[in-house]
Amino acid sequence: MGKDVIIACDFSSKEQTIAFLNKFEGKKPFVKIGMELFYACGPEIVKEIKARGHKIFLDLKLHDIPNTVKKSMSVLSNLDVDMTNLHASGTVKMMEAAIEGLTRPDGTRPILIAVTQLTSTDQESMERDLLINKPIDEVVMHYAHNAKIAGLDGVVCSPLEAEKVHNLCGTDFVTVTPGVRFADGDVGDQKRVMTPEQAKLIGSDYIVVGRPITAAEDPVAAYERCVREFVD
Ligand code: C5P
Repeated sequence: MGKDVIIACDFSSKEQTIAFLNKFEGKKPFVKIGMELFYACGPEIVKEIKARGHKIFLDLKLHDIPNTVKKSMSVLSNLDVDMTNLHASGTVKMMEAAIEGLTRPDGTRPILIAVTQLTSTDQESMERDLLINKPIDEVVMHYAHNAKIAGLDGVVCSPLEAEKVHNLCGTDFVTVTPGVRFADGDVGDQKRVMTPEQAKLIGSDYIVVGRPITAAEDPVAAYERCVREFVD
């Protein structure tokens, strides 16, 4: 898997998104389309960005009964996205069904990764609300291992977990890591952050970067800085 910087296009309208992408002129960064943009604009926005030549990570975090996830993944696969995801807490059976649905008749399929525990869930809320009484690190690693068993390609995780995930699931198992900030940038609401350079050193395969690029005065320069620090 090639290392790459994925820009989180967390916009709520097509106009904003296209105006942002137009700044990149000839460049075609890998972009993440999340729930906000997808629910605002529907599948058309995916088709349009794909037609412009970008790779797309469709971040919709599916979680339902296996049959529903299988059928939904088949629809997403037809959109020709490059990467998509689901919640590992949907069980191994759900993840296996997802792979089945995602695989195209010619055997190809988008990269499929799992969310383990959301980074917004902490030990306390996991115990209180989900009745899971194990250490959260252990839960995250167990879910990553389940994803591997189900045949998924990797997980979304904090850059601080990437090394442990690779040790447990193998270096080929993809780690996609948000929570990236420049050394001299604003941390904002992200709690556990790493610079692109640090993420590279600990072996992240893809970094997902939103506001440090989208809210920068010069987004193209910020993107190029990420690529320089993380990929080059
Ligand atoms: O703006 P920022 O760089 O914080 O954006 C990070 C992106 O990664 C957002 O789209 C956010 O939803 C996503 N994300 C995250 N933490 C996770 C999973 C996804 O920040 N654990």
